[in-house]
Amino acid sequence: MQIKKMLTPYQINGCEIKNRFVVPAMVSNLCDADGNLTKEFYEYHRAKAQGGWGLIITEDFGVNPTGVGYKNCIRLYDEKQVPQNQQFTKMIHSYGTKIFAQVFHPGRQTNASVNGGAQPVAASTIPDAANRQVPHQLTVNEIHTLVKQFGNTARLLKEAGYDGIELHLAHGYLLAGFLSLRQNRRTDEYGGNLENRLRIVREIYHEMRREVGLNFPITARISTVEDTIDGRKFPETMAIIKELEKIGFDGLSLSNSEYTPYTPEIISSGFTPRGYT
Ligand SMILES: Cc1cc2nc3c(=O)[nH]c(=O)nc-3n(C[C@H](O)[C@H](O)[C@H](O)COP(=O)(O)O)c2cc1C
Repeated sequence: MQIKKMLTPYQINGCEIKNRFVVPAMVSNLCDADGNLTKEFYEYHRAKAQGGWGLIITEDFGVNPTGVGYKNCIRLYDEKQVPQNQQFTKMIHSYGTKIFAQVFHPGRQTNASVNGGAQPVAASTIPDAANRQVPHQLTVNEIHTLVKQFGNTARLLKEAGYDGIELHLAHGYLLAGFLSLRQNRRTDEYGGNLENRLRIVREIYHEMRREVGLNFPITARISTVEDTIDGRKFPETMAIIKELEKIGFDGLSLSNSEYTPYTPEIISSGFTPRGYT
């Protein structure tokens, strides 16, 4: 009986998904150094669509040239990359599978070496324990620019045929950092109480919504706990989730943790050539 339910369709903001099997966002490292979709990337996802998954969520798209999380990070902020993504979503759709794009900004959990030498940015200047580069604290003007960039990427993703967007609020990246009392020590309107720490997320949601219209799924992914000694615990996450629902997100994916609990060896592999030992 329960297995039968897994095979029934459902909808997220008007997007009909043929069954309950969802591939969560997973970095494949199969794009090229400019974030173009390679043949391997294409075939990797084709196998999943062919296998019958109802919904695939892509790895995390960067929204600007200095917001790249790792070497070969997927990204979409330039019209030039729309056609290859159109071809990709068309292929996925030919199997009856839907595809959402995850969008993110890595915040302090990246490295200048993969961002053309640009210093990582974050809510505050506290470095990530694994990466250790001191981030630049985003100014209010820079936040406003970033909000627009998320909107631009949302518009391009819709044009490219993606069926929805998942905004990445998990795993300690930039937006998780704004939500976090440990990472966010700001004293302006983007720090302090929960309403302020949620402000950038609310602004990005509304900017993306303005670009894609009402009938297009925008979901969020959040870590239930930060998984660090003094990190966020579940009750506060529940309070955030209630706010995300009020903001208008159409769905939620729950994950866990941030970079810090992991070992630097695992993390650094994202910044080194393939096969590096
Ligand atoms: C190689 C790899 C890459 C991942 N990349 C992302 C990512 O880009 N975005 C994200 O939200 N989660 C990412 N994740 C987390 C997965 O979506 C998933 O939550 C995690 O693997 C736990 O699910 P599992 O127990 O089924 O593996 C990644 C996981 C793996 C193993």
